[in-house]
Amino acid sequence: PLKAVIFDLDGVIADTAVVHDLAWRQLASELGVPFDNATGERMKGVDRLGSLDILLERADRRYAEHERLALAERKNGYYREQIERFGPEQLLPGARDAIAATRAAGLKVGLASASRNASLLLERMGIADLFDHVVDAGRIARSKPDPEIFLAAARGLGVEPHECLGVEDAAAGVDSILAAGMAAVAVGDSPALAHADARIPNVAAFDIKHYTT
Ligand code: G6P
Ligand code: MG
Repeated sequence: PLKAVIFDLDGVIADTAVVHDLAWRQLASELGVPFDNATGERMKGVDRLGSLDILLERADRRYAEHERLALAERKNGYYREQIERFGPEQLLPGARDAIAATRAAGLKVGLASASRNASLLLERMGIADLFDHVVDAGRIARSKPDPEIFLAAARGLGVEPHECLGVEDAAAGVDSILAAGMAAVAVGDSPALAHADARIPNVAAFDIKHYTT
């Protein structure tokens, strides 16, 4: 039986996908590197330096480690300028209800986010208290699509992976959930999410009864 739901943050609960995307696009344009929608889609769920490496695939020169760190920091500055102003308005519609309904159904609720800004976002949006256990990028060694982050979330919740459902908007995230041995619900209409067990257009369509009965 299902005992826990583990949510991704960016693009599932928080309206940050476009904020990340715009910050990366700004950096790409400053570097003169082409950036298209597919580039942005591949970055979803991938940690900061991994995302930068995707951006730099089309750069016309190689960047040394210290330069890469500085570029990642620059992007984070653009991103932080926006999320510092966040409040509960930036919760995606239905996100708070989906979490509350999961808790009301007697299930545990976890968060598995590749972002180092996860705690800041949870505080700003006023939902830090709704999670039984939070795992962010600072607590793991291997980024999504590796299963480590979802396995760490299950362990923190005190449940087995097969008793968990993961909810993700990123291909790398769905891969991570499935590799952890959990059922995956994909959010959004990207063709890259086709391998999930179930699909919903957005978190407002998440109905916990659907997975518990
Ligand atoms: C999430 C987002 C990615 C982002 C990553 C790292 O997974 O989907 O787009 O690159 O977090 O976020 P951070 O806030 O640490 O730069
Ligand atoms: Mg996401």
